[in-house]
Amino acid sequence: MSSGTIRLIRHVSGAPALRLGLGPGLRPVGALTQLGRLFDRESFWAAGRDPDGLRRMLRGSQAAVSAWDGERLVGFGRATSDGAYRAVLWDVVVAGDHKGRGLGRRLVEALVEAPALARTERVYLMTTNSAGFYERLGFRSKESQNLMVKEKASG
Ligand SMILES: CC(C)(COP(=O)(O)OP(=O)(O)OC[C@H]1O[C@@H](n2cnc3c(N)ncnc32)[C@H](O)[C@@H]1OP(=O)(O)O)[C@@H](O)C(=O)NCCC(=O)NCCS
Repeated sequence: MSSGTIRLIRHVSGAPALRLGLGPGLRPVGALTQLGRLFDRESFWAAGRDPDGLRRMLRGSQAAVSAWDGERLVGFGRATSDGAYRAVLWDVVVAGDHKGRGLGRRLVEALVEAPALARTERVYLMTTNSAGFYERLGFRSKESQNLMVKEKASG
């Protein structure tokens, strides 16, 4: 259950504090474990990520935002960016009991306004089920472009 005001942390590039497990006020709150659990509960694409992978993911992200209800992580989003032309939003998630209250909007707005994205020409994202959410925030589908993927071979 929510206990009040939600605090947003706008992380610097690479999110070093989050990688160390630190939350609001730089207190040790097991932030990386909480992030893995948030992904497990609220996403299908990011479920099962291990702490080492999460640390590398954060190190390679030029923007990241986390949302806290006290010491509980209730929202997260990140982005990669070249700082000039292209940026991509990734892994925007809100905890079940905080959905529908504007937190997703706050996370996306904070990412788009982050220093690494604020002056980029174009911001991309991929979504399976949440196109309506992003349309509310000004994103539009591009029928003229194909999404193409090369998966890392397993084994
Ligand atoms: C998608 C998600 C991040 C939205 O977060 P949220 O906090 O519930 O969204 P908000 O309350 O900020 O909603 C902002 C607006 O989008 C609308 N909206 C939210 N989810 C929507 C959806 N799935 N379809 C259409 N509109 C949606 C809201 O009604 C609101 O509209 P308004 O500004 O006109 O009132 C959240 O539902 C979630 O974590 N989903 C699971 C993970 C996921 O799919 N993430 C997207 C990955 S690409």
